Amino acid sequence: MAITHRGPGWYWTTYWGDGHTASCAQGAPGAAAGQLKALWSAFAQARPAGARVLDLATGGGQAAAWLLAAHPGLLVTGADFADLPAERPEAPGVTFVSGAPLEKLPFADNAFDGLISQFGFEYGERTASVREAARILAPGGHGLFLSHHDQSAITQDYEARGRPFIAALVDRDPLRPARRVFDLHRRGASATALSEAEARMRSAVAKAQDAMANAPPHAEVRRHVAYLQALAAEPARFEPSDALSRLDTLEAMILSWRLRYEAHRRAMMDEAGVQALAARMAREGLVVQPPTPYADGVGALLGWRIDFAKPA
Ligand SMILES: C[S@@+](CC[C@H](N)C(=O)[O-])C[C@H]1O[C@@H](n2cnc3c(N)ncnc32)[C@H](O)[C@@H]1O
Repeated sequence: MAITHRGPGWYWTTYWGDGHTASCAQGAPGAAAGQLKALWSAFAQARPAGARVLDLATGGGQAAAWLLAAHPGLLVTGADFADLPAERPEAPGVTFVSGAPLEKLPFADNAFDGLISQFGFEYGERTASVREAARILAPGGHGLFLSHHDQSAITQDYEARGRPFIAALVDRDPLRPARRVFDLHRRGASATALSEAEARMRSAVAKAQDAMANAPPHAEVRRHVAYLQALAAEPARFEPSDALSRLDTLEAMILSWRLRYEAHRRAMMDEAGVQALAARMAREGLVVQPPTPYADGVGALLGWRIDFAKPA
């Protein structure tokens, strides 16, 4: 996929434009989807018909779609700072607003009767995001966030996939020597310079491969390393400008993956972190229930459940 535009949230735009259409919790361990759907369906059914509900950091809009499926009388909007299509077939009836940072939301004061977020709100800068959430929720309105827990099955799964990715493709950085080889080819460099550069590429790719040796299966990182191995094995088979352009794309994909991984690490909360978030919400005038761990149907921890309301 060509990555041409790097506006705010570009590293999430690449994710949502790359076939991850439903949710980043998709494929989470355990019976996650059923339990997530149950959470949002119950929230939707407790709202009156005509209530305006906003799904913050909506991504593929999975939670927003579940709200509307459970209660078609709601007016549901999904907002995210990534570029999303205005309508998505997976979330019929939901209005999507792109370019909407949590820290500066493009909505009027008191614009919504309900606020939700599924693994999204915690990604924002906390002070500004909480202020914005409190501003756009109407008096008498209710909210529910499900936020990343540092011990959840999703976090552990993400870590298990992230570590080998970072070790193989970021720490070993096999792209730089690969790029050097094809740059030299393109410039018609001497045979000696080429063979030295090719030896460095082979060594870097072998180290990347070693870094994955004990890693759990992760299709994306394996695919990237397999391509680099093919380049290193027979560079002369590849047209240099094609290889360089594919390496550019690969570099952007790796960077966007790394930025999402780092964002997740900043977003997840331990007990103290979620208590601090709840206290901040209370300081902005919201009435917040004590956050509780939320588990799926087979007992796998999914995240922190944060229920809140704005006094009428
Ligand atoms: C883990 S995904 C969750 C998406 C969706 N709610 C779901 O459950 O699948 C996090 C989402 O937060 C969005 N996001 C991250 N930081 C943001 C910010 N500062 N402002 C608005 N959206 C943000 C990303 O674009 C991404 O769609």
